[in-house]
Amino acid sequence: MTTASNALDRVLVLEMVRVTEAAAIAAAKLVGRGDEKAADAAAVEAMRAALNLLPMEGTVVIGEGERDEAPMLYIGEKVGLAGPEDPRIDIALDPLEGTTITAKAGPNALAVLAIAEHGCLLNAPDVYMQKIAIGPGYPDGTIALEDDVETNITRLASAKGCAVGDINACVLDRPRHRELISELRRLGCGIKLIPDGDVAGVIATTDEDTGIDIYMGSGGAPEGVLAAAALACVGGQIQGKLLFRNDDERARARRWGIEDLDRVYTLEDMAKGDCIFAATGVTEGSLLDGVRRRKGGAIETESIVMRASSGTVRYIKGEHRKGVA
Ligand code: FBP
Repeated sequence: MTTASNALDRVLVLEMVRVTEAAAIAAAKLVGRGDEKAADAAAVEAMRAALNLLPMEGTVVIGEGERDEAPMLYIGEKVGLAGPEDPRIDIALDPLEGTTITAKAGPNALAVLAIAEHGCLLNAPDVYMQKIAIGPGYPDGTIALEDDVETNITRLASAKGCAVGDINACVLDRPRHRELISELRRLGCGIKLIPDGDVAGVIATTDEDTGIDIYMGSGGAPEGVLAAAALACVGGQIQGKLLFRNDDERARARRWGIEDLDRVYTLEDMAKGDCIFAATGVTEGSLLDGVRRRKGGAIETESIVMRASSGTVRYIKGEHRKGVA
């Protein structure tokens, strides 16, 4: 066993796409079927089977839940076919990011995965996280979670060289965001309200074509770490703070070794060093096309895979002519 300090094996870049493709194809069979659990289970099973074919000693650090909650891809589960020379790798995964979207055939459901060298991804408990994120090209400190909405938007507008009212934010459409939404409206900002899927929401800030300048609001902490891994590859800034609804969630965080429950995590705190981020579209989205089934059984997929150390971003169109990858 090695703990490669310099780099993840380049070969793993493409292998990661095989894994997210497998999960997306499995979940896509259940798009629009109204069954979130079945769609998630199909994605989990396919992702696990694909991971178990890879030459690595992988440990799931962000997964489907704790061992007693999740039979597969639980936190701590070992995956991969490790040989003595294979790297020790931590994995953050969400086989189906957007279970409700998938059940309702909505946009932007993804199969998502990030890997990094051991110890480089935040082991975040499955609680909410307050998040703020922007894409690349802005000075450090353009956003700060502890500052109010107006301060952040004003700083961003000045860094972008536009009026405050020209800023577009992406926010999960939830009652808990009522105040945030009314503050953004008071400032005259545009708001893209998304039904689910804040990994895609954060990544949208990195692509000028989406028109989204900033992501704001609370969503899952595991999704925050996945989004941070994507930004580690492509550039951008993100800050997150864990939100606890009860003592059970606080205890869960302490079990994860988190001592400062009020800590604001930066991108580096969530995903440091080299990492690889991969996603395949399940349903059509702003980032990726969804899985498409053609006459005769061929399946088309679209994936993105990026790597922090090289800054490479690749879009990969898959044609699975014999059906399932
Ligand atoms: P799932 O795929 O687990 O359903 O998560 C979808 C999602 O929208 C995430 O993208 C987001 O971080 C989280 O749920 C928000 O949680 P909630 O639906 O409780 O507001």
